[in-house]
Amino acid sequence: MSRTPIMAGNWKMNLDHVAATSLVQDLGEALKAAGYDSAKSEAVVIPPFTDIRTVATLIDADKLPIAYGAQDISAHDDGAYTGEVSGTMLSKLGCSYVVVGHSERREYHNESDELVNAKAKKAIENGMTPIICCGEALEVRKAGKHVEHTVGQIKADLDGIPAEQVAKLVIAYEPIWAIGTGETATADDAQEVCQAIREAVKELYDAPTAEAVRIQYGGSVKPANVAEIMAKPDVDGALVGGASLKAGDFSKIVTFY
Ligand code: G3P
Repeated sequence: MSRTPIMAGNWKMNLDHVAATSLVQDLGEALKAAGYDSAKSEAVVIPPFTDIRTVATLIDADKLPIAYGAQDISAHDDGAYTGEVSGTMLSKLGCSYVVVGHSERREYHNESDELVNAKAKKAIENGMTPIICCGEALEVRKAGKHVEHTVGQIKADLDGIPAEQVAKLVIAYEPIWAIGTGETATADDAQEVCQAIREAVKELYDAPTAEAVRIQYGGSVKPANVAEIMAKPDVDGALVGGASLKAGDFSKIVTFY
């Protein structure tokens, strides 16, 4: 398999710029101590908007092997949109990735697949890679509709995005019931849905696009369970919340190999 695993730490609304400084420095040290090899996995941090400049400066100054991104992006171009942050702004800060459609944004900000699709396109238009999140709530899983639901989201989120762009983007399958709950999906649960997403990409586009797209699992990923999850053939990385706030834990996750 030629896909490089991508391990991304979503800090969510945590850490001011002082705490962000320590975390990035500690993470740099921890990765170095662990003998991190960027050919074996890609390390990414996704801080809150207010920490991006700090993180970028430290990564550049210390030449740390860590990419960074943003947790959201406006679907609009620069202009009169109070409180929004544009793709131009994020790309000028050096962001490589933008998370779109996280379940917390879908739930607390009523983000629809249509909006997620517009945001993904805006990230691409500004030279960044979207990490498109999808995943089902507990009721949906209990009803046995988790594959159908998640694949439906992804089909809508990818609408109108050409194959050559889809091949380069990242999809994160995050079952909502496993986020921040300590309840991790089993490695087989993760594989089932990641495989179904890849199949859907193959049907929508073609086999090379499906083979190229990277699909992460997210939901209570920890040092103790990362290897088992990463051993699954259709899981190409992890989107990590809580455990990404501790340099030692996140470093272990990044160097799972
Ligand atoms: O985006 C990451 C995420 O929602 C998972 O969070 O805390 O369960 O690792 P956590």
